[in-house]
Amino acid sequence: MTQQQKDRSEHLLKVEELKKYYPVRGGFFRRKIGDVKAVDNISLDLKRGETFGLVGESGCGKSTAGRTITRLFKPTEGKIFFEGKDITNLRGTQLRNLRQDIQMVFQDPYASLNPKMMVGSIVSEPLVNYGKGSESKLKDEVMNLLTRVGLPEDAYYKYPHEFSGGQRQRIGIARALALKPKLIVADEPVSALDVSVQSQVLNLLKELQDEFDLTLLFIAHDLSVVKHMSDRIGVMYLGNLVEVADADDLYRDPKHPYTQALISAIPQPDPRNKSERIILSGDVPSPQNPPVGCPFHPRCPKVMPECSGKKPQLKEVNKEHRVSCLLYE
Ligand SMILES: Nc1ncnc2c1ncn2[C@@H]1O[C@H](COP(=O)(O)OP(=O)(O)OP(=O)(O)O)[C@@H](O)[C@H]1O
Ligand SMILES: [Mg+2]
Repeated sequence: MTQQQKDRSEHLLKVEELKKYYPVRGGFFRRKIGDVKAVDNISLDLKRGETFGLVGESGCGKSTAGRTITRLFKPTEGKIFFEGKDITNLRGTQLRNLRQDIQMVFQDPYASLNPKMMVGSIVSEPLVNYGKGSESKLKDEVMNLLTRVGLPEDAYYKYPHEFSGGQRQRIGIARALALKPKLIVADEPVSALDVSVQSQVLNLLKELQDEFDLTLLFIAHDLSVVKHMSDRIGVMYLGNLVEVADADDLYRDPKHPYTQALISAIPQPDPRNKSERIILSGDVPSPQNPPVGCPFHPRCPKVMPECSGKKPQLKEVNKEHRVSCLLYE
């Protein structure tokens, strides 16, 4: 086995230089006139059992990355390995089988649950689809799942609209768990919920992770949410992963000027700890026409002349701490 093959099989998931572009069409014939480079270059690996937090501002490509990694979307370029196996171009039955191991939890628990289906059917549907027994036999299992995520047993006979946002997200989580997946990609699972119920749902996810031996890719735009959940964190900017580090490391010693700005914006509960807030100038450029060189350079407070020429690569600066910035090359 080569070192590269070994790396791939040691991680539950390994993503190499992933790109996902959406075509832009225009004109009378709706010809392709360009690309939205929603994910322009992402390399990351997930260790078994860890929680990896993926953060970045709205529109930076987090959801696209999540859906491409889970193969809900077809990648434009790059490679994805799951348990050492190349899943980049899986189709048909093989892709269907992969779905048992990789599940998603979505941001809006109302839009992602079929309003016409009883909760019992919503949660058992994946089990039925994959022929894991008849609906009646599965009832006990689904009841167990419902109680496990903190819902009353009679939830089985109710409809999504009869529940609050937090409870609906619990239904979504029970459904995602039904097939006992190995990886769950949770795309902003608490962003749509009241602050008061956010931490309850986050705690539930943490508990379930231990109990079900899950690996979690946790997507959020809010660094403070990710901090408490994640073992490691990846920061995205305009379709690129700009920094990856252990959660503590990232907070204590952020390397990328963008990460430094994000962290300086987190409110400090203790006013004596106040540090200078870094205000970024300008807006995030369009992913249809990203800047040449470093994608962050037009807004970067530490920009250097060479930043508009050369695109930096993600490089290790400390053990397990990688950053893509010419300041460190
Ligand atoms: N189906 C699509 N077709 C064309 N462009 C798209 C499509 N979906 C997303 N985009 C664009 O791709 C970019 C990345 O979008 P994405 O939804 O992945 O970002 P995000 O980080 O999840 O944002 P948010 O925090 O708002 O959820 C955005 O510029 C978005 O407008
Ligand atoms: Mg999103």
